[in-house]
Amino acid sequence: MRSTRRELLKLMAATGGGALTASGLLISRAAPTSSAATAAPASSAMSLAPIVTPFQTAMPIPPVLRPVSVTSTTDTYVLPVKKASAEIIPGVSTPVLTYGGTFPGPTIKARSGRRTVVKQTNQIQDGTSLHLHGAVVDPSSDGGPMDLVLPGTTRNYTYPNQQVAATLWYHDHAHHVEAEHVYRGMSGLYLISDNNEDSLPLPRGSYDVPIVVRDIGLNEDGTLYFDHLFNSRPQILVNGKPQPYFQVAARKYRLRILNGSNQRPFEFRLSTGDEFVQITSDRGLLGAPYTTTSVPLSPAERADIVVDFSRYPVGTSVVLKNSYFPAPGTEDILRFDVVRTADDPSRVPARLADLPPTATPTVTRSFALQFDDQTGDGMINGKMWDENRVDTTVRWGDAEIWEITNTHPFIPHNFHIHLVDFRVLDRNGKPPLPGEAGLKDTVRVEAGETVRILVSFKFPYSGRYYYHCHLIDHSSMGMMANLDIVRA
Ligand code: C2O
Ligand code: CU
Ligand code: CU
Repeated sequence: MRSTRRELLKLMAATGGGALTASGLLISRAAPTSSAATAAPASSAMSLAPIVTPFQTAMPIPPVLRPVSVTSTTDTYVLPVKKASAEIIPGVSTPVLTYGGTFPGPTIKARSGRRTVVKQTNQIQDGTSLHLHGAVVDPSSDGGPMDLVLPGTTRNYTYPNQQVAATLWYHDHAHHVEAEHVYRGMSGLYLISDNNEDSLPLPRGSYDVPIVVRDIGLNEDGTLYFDHLFNSRPQILVNGKPQPYFQVAARKYRLRILNGSNQRPFEFRLSTGDEFVQITSDRGLLGAPYTTTSVPLSPAERADIVVDFSRYPVGTSVVLKNSYFPAPGTEDILRFDVVRTADDPSRVPARLADLPPTATPTVTRSFALQFDDQTGDGMINGKMWDENRVDTTVRWGDAEIWEITNTHPFIPHNFHIHLVDFRVLDRNGKPPLPGEAGLKDTVRVEAGETVRILVSFKFPYSGRYYYHCHLIDHSSMGMMANLDIVRA
């Protein structure tokens, strides 16, 4: 990644930083200079509100949604889509689009093997489509791009949760408006637990904390500024608040990090450079914990990490930092203030989970993630998404190698497939680091990279699914395709 960033900066210098105004996806129209330091304040051109001073606001924990009914098999929730206003910046009210009125949406807690039903009424003017990202689910509840809940109507989504413990998230998927809907607030966490996870002595309860990181751009009047440009979103939020602080005890915490941004990749580190332990990837626990000093997450990727704050004396602080293209104001994510001591019976065991054996692939396919730099159209293998075209047909039960290439000189992409989880085989021919060697559903594909993944289409469902870049502005511009899984 480091050399990718160097390339990016070099290219910005070479192009005067104003490249790709047509697709406008990474580099701002403003700030045409050679230094990364000037790439951030797109604000002058767009008159965005200035970034607020970090660490002024306490980090909230998104509320956990209460079921409206609980039976021996099923938990039912009511979660309307509605307009609301959120106090993102202290004293400023910002109109947002929400699930259930909060920004971000409430967390749904599910149990492996128990069914969840989400009853959704659409109370906004646009069609919406609820997608549970990472769910093993029938197409009818997958939230396809054209499978809309029309304004004023209600729909039940059913999630069987026949999958292992994992940090998932739900978000809107209504085609062409998904980027704007998600940007304006339509997302939330969905946490599945299971017996294996329960048997492990990991930090739990109030020491198991969601960290949803994303960026926004605010107009001077406190409304959200929206276009498809990366640099029009210079304000980093955690759980809906600007670069907050969080008071912790001097003990271990499990931090469930979701990159909930539309387009901004992050690479998370501690300001001390200290190690932490990554215990999950997108679709569940890693086989073994991975001790590291950084975790890169592109949009929609998740990683749970365990940080041991007992290393820091009470009264001190450590900052969660971003080192991926850290334009000014975007380096600081969240400050942990160590305010008390606490008992700590938790530990990270040497074995976390048994990952399923990998199958032998029989088919190889290639996918190129592309932009038309003139029009800004997003494409996969030269084609924009078309609801009526079948792009890829796979046989249920087959294992395949998918080779994904990002040919762009500096725009990052990633790749997400609905329904399935997959394993990363290699990145530019090199095996993945342990942090992405577990079960994944979204994988980074940096500029110039080729990533190979192994996918086994042996999930209990078949039919129409989708794959796309999850820099969600890109998919809303067409970088998405239809996947049909057919039973012989
Ligand atoms: Cu999280 Cu098709 O998306
Ligand atoms: Cu998805
Ligand atoms: Cu992309």
